[in-house]
Amino acid sequence: MRLTEGQAGARILAFGGYQPARVVTNDELAQTVDTNDEWIRSRVGIASRRIAGPDETVADMAVAAGGKALAASGLSPADIDLVIVATCTPEAPIPNASASVAKRLGIVAPGAYDLNAACAGFCYALANAADAVRTGTARNVLVVGAEKLSQWIDWTDRSTCIIFADGAGAAVVGPVEDPADPPGIGPVHWGSDGGLADKIYIPNRDAFIIQEGQAVFRWATSALAPIALEACAKAGVEPTELAAFIPHQANLRIVEAIARKLGAPQATVAEDIVTAGNTSSASIPLALSRMIERGEVASGSKALLLGFGAGLCYAAQVITVP
Ligand code: UT7
Repeated sequence: MRLTEGQAGARILAFGGYQPARVVTNDELAQTVDTNDEWIRSRVGIASRRIAGPDETVADMAVAAGGKALAASGLSPADIDLVIVATCTPEAPIPNASASVAKRLGIVAPGAYDLNAACAGFCYALANAADAVRTGTARNVLVVGAEKLSQWIDWTDRSTCIIFADGAGAAVVGPVEDPADPPGIGPVHWGSDGGLADKIYIPNRDAFIIQEGQAVFRWATSALAPIALEACAKAGVEPTELAAFIPHQANLRIVEAIARKLGAPQATVAEDIVTAGNTSSASIPLALSRMIERGEVASGSKALLLGFGAGLCYAAQVITVP
């Protein structure tokens, strides 16, 4: 018996993002629930969000984002041999989304699995992809975060319907160009606290998302900055070297509170929640793909990713921006 020959390190070759066409403003929501634009902007930071069409699926959005990432990577579908779709809102438990996403992208017979770590899902999937490339179990991996949270929201519950939204983001992961090059995906720092599992949950298949917002808010603003800093330490990167910080887009006040504690005043902080809402596992790759498109973060610079949410689960890693 012997082990597969691995690679020196993994890197992200490209990102891609997708948002559904329909824009839902705070004023529109205020027509159906007792809320207002000022409350939502000041307490959550959202101005508008995107909601998928009735027939638009998680797999549809994953294909759109994954296709963009694949095209931008310069690889062909034949180069991909593992597809991971992070989602907590699949259409059904079986079949998984990833195998059909792969098929629709022309990726033939890859390893394919869905991963549920809720809003931390993309960072978990990215870590798995990097490990697969390093150990030689995959050459190149398509990693997608895709969510249709709108189908799990009680649209009469103002505490949740103003927050969650739909979308997808993707990354192509492959080996570093030269084995002597440093890795482009740093070690993940991940974990969970199942003692807080009842703070965000869906009680059964006919129910909607229930969230104890204040409890999650307190946890996020106290527990997560040390976790983000640990990911920097594991990667050997000082916070002052970061060009960007892309935390899960849960609440702008949470984003800003964690960013203040990082000691990285030079880093551009993702504020995609303003026009994207909270898209769970899609939020980080979606935010970063849009920052790259707008030229807000340079290729080759260091960015810190931090996913967190239901579970409660969290994961953070430093990456080199493609
Ligand atoms: O992505 C997964 C991870 N999730 C998170 O990280 C979410 C973390 N939590 C949060 O982001 C915030 O706790 C929320 C955005 C969910 C809520 O904001 P908050 O500042 O914690 O508000 P609150 O729940 O303490 O409510 C304050 C007040 C209450 O009224 P009273 O009791 O003070 O009279 C609520 O009933 O605001 C009221 N309220 C609203 N008012 C207008 C709650 N929702 C709304 C609303 N519009 N949509």
